[in-house]
Amino acid sequence: MAFEEKIKQLLDKREEAKLGGGQKRIDSQHAKGKLTARERIERLLDDGSFEEFDMFVTHHCTDFGMGEKSFLSDGVVTGYGTIDGRLVYVFSQDFTVFGGSLSEAFASKICKVLDQAMKVGAPVIGLNDSGGARIQEGVNSLAGYAEIFQRNIMASGVIPQISAIFGPCAGGSVYSPALTDFIMMSKENSYMYVTGPKVVKTVTGEEVTDDKLGGAMVHASKSGVTHFVVDTEDEGLMLIRKMISYIPSNNLEEAPLQPCNDPIDRLEDSLNSIIPDNPNQPYDVKDIIHAIVDEGEFLEVHRHFAANIVVGFARFNGVSVGIVANQPNYMAGVLDINASRKAARFVRFCDAFNIPLVTLVDVPGFLPGTGQEYNGIITNGAKLLFAYGEATVPKVTITLRKSYGGAHDVMSSKQLRGDINYAWPSAEIAVMGASGAVAVLYGSELKKMEDPEAKAKFIAEKEAEYADKFANPYVAAKFGHIDDVIEPRNTRFRVIRALQALATKKDQNPMKKHCNIPL
Ligand code: HXC
Repeated sequence: MAFEEKIKQLLDKREEAKLGGGQKRIDSQHAKGKLTARERIERLLDDGSFEEFDMFVTHHCTDFGMGEKSFLSDGVVTGYGTIDGRLVYVFSQDFTVFGGSLSEAFASKICKVLDQAMKVGAPVIGLNDSGGARIQEGVNSLAGYAEIFQRNIMASGVIPQISAIFGPCAGGSVYSPALTDFIMMSKENSYMYVTGPKVVKTVTGEEVTDDKLGGAMVHASKSGVTHFVVDTEDEGLMLIRKMISYIPSNNLEEAPLQPCNDPIDRLEDSLNSIIPDNPNQPYDVKDIIHAIVDEGEFLEVHRHFAANIVVGFARFNGVSVGIVANQPNYMAGVLDINASRKAARFVRFCDAFNIPLVTLVDVPGFLPGTGQEYNGIITNGAKLLFAYGEATVPKVTITLRKSYGGAHDVMSSKQLRGDINYAWPSAEIAVMGASGAVAVLYGSELKKMEDPEAKAKFIAEKEAEYADKFANPYVAAKFGHIDDVIEPRNTRFRVIRALQALATKKDQNPMKKHCNIPL
């Protein structure tokens, strides 16, 4: 073959590979409102930055007539490119080829990407759209999944791993995303489950739809499996780009510093009146977050799950931070099982990737009751406690209002290696709230009192006495448990100064094989 013909052959093969499972299946993908695997990559990465690997790979299966049926790339598009000029690795499952199902060759392509990303220290982004194990390949497909899982596990805490689910993600497909740091699902076309509706019906008799069993909102609000829900794939791809801007490329680097045009000493007068006088009245802690961070920009993670705690990324003077804040607007900001799990995982991500933590505290305690105890609030609450205590990144804590009991200790307290712990004048740092304390301290007196009016008066007096004594930040300040009481409107400046002071912080944990976090 002449040289020119060889070049033409190459270009023809590329064109063939780009067609995946063929135009008909591409049209059907579009008709469902979905992008193709390559379109997704194009929109995710900087223009023209994608370099593809393994375009000419095909499967090795000959059973079930597969010898005659094969497609270049074999159902997954892999390679690397850049996001805002920073290197990332990517794989994008192609539903037009055998429903994006995973063959041995398909798995090897993903493994290659993961291996190389680990060598160079770059994030991996997986775009999922797959019918699970390639049924024709049987056990080789299962082995392929396990090869990927093992790499996901080794990469955990070394390079960031982000998964987007833009179609089916069933059976074995779910566990690779589950091992990554963040999952995103598109609202209309995606679902995740270990066993689908047909199997559910056979085993339990329950009738359920794809969406009800494993749709985006189910996993966002009930199971907490997904961290983000997006209306469109485009929105999701832009969100991944944004996430990447907040995080470093690997565990040995820091997140990129962004230019900051927001004055560091900006006073936010509204904060001096944001806390209601009535301690039982809620307010939205997100108003405080938006008021203090650079340009009011906050990328919330897990928005629909355990709304009693808010977590997400923001910046102070261009420095990326993880924010954890109790939310008085939902269940009074109480810590329960889901809130503890949600925040613990976020704290551990930030700590693994050198992202400082800023914690805003307004917590009345742990949620009481059999529902919580039977489901293990002890073990689950301990996750957050463990995560904070284990974290060695800079930790700045601001107590806004309540900080009671065990929850006080958990929320990045001084004794859990909190570096700089400030409180607003509205802070109430105590072993418990006034009404609980009075009920315990004066229980026997109250039992003897028969006149309800006298009883109410007694309670009110004692509560006022207790609140006067303990519902303030000064008892904690007296013992050095907090470092200063600050004016709310000056919070942004004080946090920025604290982060500047802590920028060179060095702390470490004892050598060990690994910790034994209460899972
Ligand atoms: C091989 C598959 C496939 C699979 C789909 N296809 N899933 N081929 N293996 N797992 C093929 C179809 O034959 C079809 O080929 C094309 O992909 C599109 O599929 P459709 O069914 O036409 O599409 P749709 O109606 O959108 O339904 C999508 C679907 C459905 C819900 C994903 O295809 C489905 O239920 N697939 C099987 C899911 C499954 O049971 N997977 C195995 C899970 S077990 P043509 O040629 O017509 O285009 C598992 C265990 C692993 O994953 C455990 C590891 C730990």
